[in-house]
Amino acid sequence: MIVGGSMAAVKAPSVLRRLRERGAQVQVIATAAALEFITELSLATAAGGRVATEATWFAARPDAQHLTLARADAAVVVGASADLLARAAGGHAGDLAAATLLSVAGPVLWVPAMNERMWHHPAVQANAAALRGWGHTFLGPEVGAFGTLGEGRGLGRMAEPEDIAAATLALLPPAPAVRAQDLAGWRVVVSAGPTREYLDPVRFISNPSSGKMGYAVAEEARDRGADVTLVSGPVQLPPPAGVRTVPIESALELRDAVLDAARGADLVVMTAAVADYRAAEQAQEKQAKVAGDVTVHLTPNPDILAELGREKAGRLLVGFAMETHAGIERAAAKAARKNADFILLNYPTREGTGFGGDDNEVTLVRPDGTSEAWPRTSKREVARRLLDEARQLRD
Ligand code: C5P
Repeated sequence: MIVGGSMAAVKAPSVLRRLRERGAQVQVIATAAALEFITELSLATAAGGRVATEATWFAARPDAQHLTLARADAAVVVGASADLLARAAGGHAGDLAAATLLSVAGPVLWVPAMNERMWHHPAVQANAAALRGWGHTFLGPEVGAFGTLGEGRGLGRMAEPEDIAAATLALLPPAPAVRAQDLAGWRVVVSAGPTREYLDPVRFISNPSSGKMGYAVAEEARDRGADVTLVSGPVQLPPPAGVRTVPIESALELRDAVLDAARGADLVVMTAAVADYRAAEQAQEKQAKVAGDVTVHLTPNPDILAELGREKAGRLLVGFAMETHAGIERAAAKAARKNADFILLNYPTREGTGFGGDDNEVTLVRPDGTSEAWPRTSKREVARRLLDEARQLRD
């Protein structure tokens, strides 16, 4: 909460109390002008903590206070004055409130309080319009008695504390729901990332799989109570907490690790981009450069998904497939051939999805040829739907 230099600053403690009663953690910034209207002590008492001011900003401290404060989920400016609106709209950073507003990550709610003629001045309206254009929202000013200097009734009165608190809370992201532990007791195995098929000690064949899809499946399954083993090729992602991560490089290593973990598993999800071929003979020494072309003799890797499908032992089996054409028919045939319960089909060609991206656009394809196109969404959401589908097949 930023408190501005206005008569309405005296209402800030009342807003603060309401926000804190409803569980919000509030940090208060008081502008120099605000402290002419209300004491730092009143604000600190209502906030239950220290108030950030010009003095704390310029005190020797290890962090840039405006950046620390700007990590808030939302900002509300109570008693917003014409001057503070102008500083924010002008991109000023010469005081703590303005600097924080320049870097705040969450949404911003302005609750202006000023004389009616000031509010209607084109300069103030232009500033408010600029801020609205950047996605900031406004509450008020309202019609009513304002100030104590005898201005009487008119537009310019700040909104009521209850309404300010409600509008502020409405900006906050929903509290993380307690995840249903609907996979408690499940053992889930996920493969992720690329494999590396070494030709010699320093050269390998691989692909650009980021591992993000598989890691999302592993994390989602973990959060729903499953016991998760993640068999991962080399990726740039940290091993997820609370998940047994088995690092591998080659398809043969992946095979051993997955088959081992799959014993007694309820669900195996193969998101790994397994190389189809490996060097028929891996050279033990680095191969020297020769003049002219070279030929590398490749031999097929075992198909791990198909191998698991041959002896399912009650496990659910899910694969991924990347196709550039005739996707659904090919994926259905693949699901049938490999005895997978379903395959999620994606397209390497769609912008921002598939390899490396944070989003994915997939079509669920069953071995009987039926399919369901899911809308483009985050990989985590794809993981959620994948596990919903698996759970339904189990029930
Ligand atoms: O046949 P294709 O490679 O398109 O099949 C993709 C699916 O099969 C993926 O789920 C992948 O992890 C899995 N796969 C496998 N072993 C291979 C190749 C692919 O398990 N050697």
